[in-house]
Amino acid sequence: MTWYEYFNEIVKTKELIRKYIHETPLDYSNTLSRTTNADVYLKMENLQKTGSFKVRGAFSRLIRLSEEERKRGVIAVSAGNHAQGVAYAAKALGIKATIVMPETAPISKYLATKSYGANVILYGKFLHESMKKAEEIIRETGAILVHPYGDLNVILGQGTLGLELLDLKPDVVIVPIGGGGLISGISLAIKYKLPNVKIIGVQSSASPSLKVSKDLGRLVEIEPSFSIADGILVKSPSELTYKIISELVDDIVLVDDDEIANAIMFLLERNKTVAEGAGAATVAALLSGKVSYNGKKIVPIISGGNIDLSLLARIIDKMLYKTKRIVKVKVLVPDKPGYLNKVLSRIAQIRGNVIDVIHDRISSDVKPGYTKIYVMFEIPSGDALSDFLYALALDGIEATLVE
Ligand SMILES: Cc1ncc(COP(=O)(O)O)c(C=O)c1O
Repeated sequence: MTWYEYFNEIVKTKELIRKYIHETPLDYSNTLSRTTNADVYLKMENLQKTGSFKVRGAFSRLIRLSEEERKRGVIAVSAGNHAQGVAYAAKALGIKATIVMPETAPISKYLATKSYGANVILYGKFLHESMKKAEEIIRETGAILVHPYGDLNVILGQGTLGLELLDLKPDVVIVPIGGGGLISGISLAIKYKLPNVKIIGVQSSASPSLKVSKDLGRLVEIEPSFSIADGILVKSPSELTYKIISELVDDIVLVDDDEIANAIMFLLERNKTVAEGAGAATVAALLSGKVSYNGKKIVPIISGGNIDLSLLARIIDKMLYKTKRIVKVKVLVPDKPGYLNKVLSRIAQIRGNVIDVIHDRISSDVKPGYTKIYVMFEIPSGDALSDFLYALALDGIEATLVE
């Protein structure tokens, strides 16, 4: 197919799936624009049905099935957003869906997929084990496999997101990459009409298969390690996405979990936006300076918002600690009544809010007649911490910040 034919197919796909999906907002972000010295518009695909762009590809694939194929039902293997996208689209189109998830899939994603009416089977520890189960079911039932990224119709569906950026005429579009279906679709939709737009891919440093493939000029598989960006951990890209990416994507950068956690926190605090790790990777690339285009119009795709609340809570706590809005201080005081009270009063004076206190007088590093107090508290500002340490010093009390 020529680039022109691909583009036309994406336009047709948009017509086919229009009534099932949202055209998600493009939000100008003042804070990100100021921080990065550019004009930044967030493409809020976390507000898409099921919380990610995956429904676009799922509808595009399922809507083209023949009557006979629909009767056989569809099957997908996924631990996350693809599972939800296929389950949702199948329900809307009245097609039976089976989703095979690894036993380790997050409970929230398992429950969400089930809630869309799919038959969910938990099997194996890893996706390739779940895939074996799916192959067995396909042999028995003839169900149609919906591949998450290596399928042209899925790519055309993801490309409909790219069409929604054309009117803005961006200079740069930043897209997260797992297997590469999303960035392939977006590139096909944009580059034909606006060939000068730079398309930048972002992978997790825990899963750099397409970056390494593009650099080496041949398709390689890399076993992913752990990352909070679970949506973009993919061992094997597909031939098709590799080919499109090699020709149309300008650059691929890698971001690590600290940078992604920072971006999740930034989006939450400044933009009131919940993004999952994969969805925040594009903003991580901007905030870390790995993607930098002064004065240009930049669109990072916030591709999904399905983050486990317990993971989100841990990220928030860790980031508050890292940025010293929660601090832990070690204080050494005489083991006499009233000293704990003295320390806590000093915290109250700076409007600190205590989270935890450990009062320890038996550890071997505590001199006889003394007590070690660890106190963790929230503080309103960095100045408040200096005021607190100074006040304790005036009381003759030794205190140190625990990093
Ligand atoms: C939120 C999110 N962003 C990005 C991606 C990457 O998409 P692709 O595999 O098409 O590159 C995924 C894939 O599941 C995802 O769930």
